[in-house]
Amino acid sequence: MRELIFATNNQHKADEIQPVLRDGFKVLTLRESGIEIDIPEPYDSLEENAKTKARTIYQMTGQNCFSEDTALEVNSLNGEPGVKSARYAGDGRDAGANTGKLLNKLSDQEDRSGRFRTVIALILDGQEYLFEGICEGSIADQPRGVKGFGYDPVFIPRGDNRTFAEMDLAEKNQYSHRAKAVSKLVDFLNSSYH
Ligand code: IMP
Repeated sequence: MRELIFATNNQHKADEIQPVLRDGFKVLTLRESGIEIDIPEPYDSLEENAKTKARTIYQMTGQNCFSEDTALEVNSLNGEPGVKSARYAGDGRDAGANTGKLLNKLSDQEDRSGRFRTVIALILDGQEYLFEGICEGSIADQPRGVKGFGYDPVFIPRGDNRTFAEMDLAEKNQYSHRAKAVSKLVDFLNSSYH
């Protein structure tokens, strides 16, 4: 079993990634690795934030690790909430407040299209690699469903009419930005890491 530290404290993200990684890889969250740290995400790009998080953990542990950063980008709001998606409605990182603010801002907009974009930064034997996953979709009129996390109750992936929060994890992973980025990570690991 190959272990990879996943530079996150978000158990939802770790739970989403483990089934996509399949057998052979074990993802350890920071907490499971005994690391207590809240790594800042100060940059204006997902790529820089993801790289910084992975470098921080690599410097602390010397172990192979990866991190990810995700944004919801809504077209009629010029890409908002964007890289600051977690703090859209303030530093409390309150998912209900974030989705509420988004729905308010979209109340007079006809175009509700947007996308989730995930960037994964991997550090493998000291080398850095980036992987991107995109899920196109649209923002619902009202929150629907109780599964998932974050903006899931208001995001409808293209090709479905349910929100992510109305789907089981396996269904979400058929569409999701994160699953797509992880698939690229897995293909890379399988081809280069034995
Ligand atoms: P971060 O990557 O943890 O900084 O996430 C940015 C924001 O997007 C946070 O508010 C997360 O809750 C939200 N988010 C990240 N991934 C997802 C997802 O798969 N579904 C819904 N919201 C997400």
